[in-house]
Amino acid sequence: MQIVRSIKDLRFAITAWRQNGQRVAFVPTMGNLHAGHIQLVKTAQQQADRVVVSIFVNPAQFGPNEDFASYPRTEQPDQAKLADCGTDLLFLPSVVEMYPTPLQTQVSVKGLSTLHCGASRPGHFDGVAIVVCKLLNMVQPDLLLLGEKDFQQLAVIRTMVADLNIPVTIQGVPTVREADGLAMSSRNSYLTTPERQHAPLLYRALCATRDAVLSGSTDYQSAIDRQTKILQDAGFLLDYFRICRSADLLPATENDAELVILIAAKLGKTRLIDNIYFTRGNWARAKSEAAVTGA
Ligand code: PAF
Repeated sequence: MQIVRSIKDLRFAITAWRQNGQRVAFVPTMGNLHAGHIQLVKTAQQQADRVVVSIFVNPAQFGPNEDFASYPRTEQPDQAKLADCGTDLLFLPSVVEMYPTPLQTQVSVKGLSTLHCGASRPGHFDGVAIVVCKLLNMVQPDLLLLGEKDFQQLAVIRTMVADLNIPVTIQGVPTVREADGLAMSSRNSYLTTPERQHAPLLYRALCATRDAVLSGSTDYQSAIDRQTKILQDAGFLLDYFRICRSADLLPATENDAELVILIAAKLGKTRLIDNIYFTRGNWARAKSEAAVTGA
């Protein structure tokens, strides 16, 4: 595995591959890699000749009171994991390499960036958008792989890429979970032992809410309230817990079929996010047919 720290070296390596007609996939990360990241690399390998991974803890996407300083930086184990799974190139830029001068340009996906996580973390998605835009311009990959765990991030980046005509195909990769259902996340390492035992309740609440919707309930608020109570009793401080349309992340109505349930909550000092998406297809279709036939 080649390791480069400068944009110049990155471009040099990638240009050589391109001249040989090779297809390049890119996995941007902030490091502290877990099985979810490795799954992104493995999915990338199935679809490209070369896989580039970046590790950059991006200051622009952290708020002033957030965990930028304490975000786990685990360069050596990360390098070993990436080399083990056959990554071709690791890009490890410094903050100065990425942001040599104060930014005068903003990349902001309006609307989407202010919902859900964007409401609790003002400016977060602008920071994500600018760094991903810059990284895409540096790597110029054919394929960009992102985890579906950050469902809103994926939607923001898809919108940015479409709006700016960035020539890359985006592939979302399903969330990798621990055996007890907890979504893998670099921030899980902040959890204390008792918190870690309660953490899988978040996914259980998502599944129970999805099952209520799939069994025909359109009283979304009651389904959410039931699970909110269970989570609060277990010590979660909920930020949001909503049933939305997966296309635009706006509140779902009973006529929507493509749904995503989004949740964010604090457990102690750790902010956890998760989601589950599904189609209410058959049930919704049966209902609308019944309405047409008057059944
Ligand atoms: O999901 C992440 O790890 C980050 O938000 C990303 C996409 C690498 C941008 O810094």
